[in-house]
Amino acid sequence: MADLSIEFAGIKAPNPFWLASAPPTDKQYNVERAFEAGWGGVVWKTLGEDPAAVNVSSRYSASYDAHGDVVGFNNIELITDRPLEVNLREIEETKRNWPDRALIVSLMVPCEEDAWKRIVKQVEQTGADGLELNFGCPHGMPERGMGAAVGQVPEYVEMVTRWCKQYSSLPVMVKMTPNVTDVRHPARAAFRGGADAVSLINTVNSITGLDLDRMVARPIVGSQSTHGGMCGPAVKPIALNMLAEIARDPETAGKRLCGIGGISNWRDAAEFIALGAGSVQVCTAAMLHGFRIVEGMKDGLSRWMDEKGYARIEDFRGLAVPNTTDWKYLDINYKSIAQIDQDKCINCGRCHIACEDTSHQAINKLLQADGSNIYTVNDDECVGCNLCEITCPVDQCITMVPQETGLPYMNWTQDPRNPYREA
Ligand SMILES: Cc1cc2nc3c(=O)[nH]c(=O)nc-3n(C[C@H](O)[C@H](O)[C@H](O)COP(=O)(O)O)c2cc1C
Ligand code: SF4
Ligand code: SF4
Repeated sequence: MADLSIEFAGIKAPNPFWLASAPPTDKQYNVERAFEAGWGGVVWKTLGEDPAAVNVSSRYSASYDAHGDVVGFNNIELITDRPLEVNLREIEETKRNWPDRALIVSLMVPCEEDAWKRIVKQVEQTGADGLELNFGCPHGMPERGMGAAVGQVPEYVEMVTRWCKQYSSLPVMVKMTPNVTDVRHPARAAFRGGADAVSLINTVNSITGLDLDRMVARPIVGSQSTHGGMCGPAVKPIALNMLAEIARDPETAGKRLCGIGGISNWRDAAEFIALGAGSVQVCTAAMLHGFRIVEGMKDGLSRWMDEKGYARIEDFRGLAVPNTTDWKYLDINYKSIAQIDQDKCINCGRCHIACEDTSHQAINKLLQADGSNIYTVNDDECVGCNLCEITCPVDQCITMVPQETGLPYMNWTQDPRNPYREA
């Protein structure tokens, strides 16, 4: 049986599944029930200075797929709206009751040295295992000079991280905002400031949709709205890319990374770990389905690791990083083409329409004597774009088959067709 336990930036946990800083972790009652359900750790809902933040009503909105499932979850909540002293007391009690779980405390105070010094000292006294600096919240707090307003300026990221390392002996993890053009800059700044790890991503600036009768975006507060932060399955591709960018950046390669963003099951978690994450955090999936989803996550990951022969998380962490490269290093001589399994095909014609109208006219529609059509791939015209495979509604009906070209690996920097090729 695979061993799911981890040590992340000096913090031990029985498994890599942690709840992200958000409503699931905003009080002792929630966190203790999460631990009972089996979560390996939590990042406590972001603490700030008193007086506590004041929230509005309503607060959430969502984007749905055609089946009504939530693909994107959007919120306009602020940091904790409970007094600091109450949170600190509950953190201390929770850590005492659950010594084997990771308990990290998320923080956000004004960009002043004294404010950070004060709060990190207070948190240290609770016995918490680590700090996460919330430089990512994209709504409300940036207007007050905090959250993403700090995360978007590498100099501030470095400065505040350095203060926290100076005034606390706890491991410091810096949470990145995705609302930047190049996440490597704030990540480098965090590590320059002494961060033990970075976690990513926080939520993505978004407006999920409008009420067209009332002419206002959602979520609606009276007759107004504001942009929120998007999370859930829709942001997973953004998070994976940003994680990979940091993991393969020579300046930050090998540093501790915690993956967040759209993780809903064990497979999502395995993908983040394969791209370098040593632990993962979950918010939306727990908010939509409850704490017990961790059971399937632990079970699924452990079974998959057994199947693959990975005894520990570290055995496969980062294995996909070297295979993630710049476009210019991809093999131009590699070729795959679509193959249709006629036994599985239901003759719906979707692949033909997609390829005919917007790709390479490589799927033939052949009229049969009985009036039905069959669809076949013209191997010579297929460029291997994957569009038909993506469009086909039948699982494994279209597969992309690698071709033996007999040609050696050659990338764009070597290609004679490239006028700027390297010698
Ligand atoms: C309602 C809500 C409140 C959140 N509050 C915080 C917060 O206080 N501090 C923080 O760092 N992130 C906060 N987040 C962001 C999450 O911690 C997490 O980074 C984000 O939701 C992406 O993960 P997910 O796709 O699993 O939800 C919040 C998210 C939601 C949905
Ligand atoms: S892979 Fe692309 S080009 Fe080839 S058949 Fe499918 S859609 Fe057409
Ligand atoms: S989309 Fe799939 S099922 Fe439909 S015709 Fe093409 S191969 Fe057959």
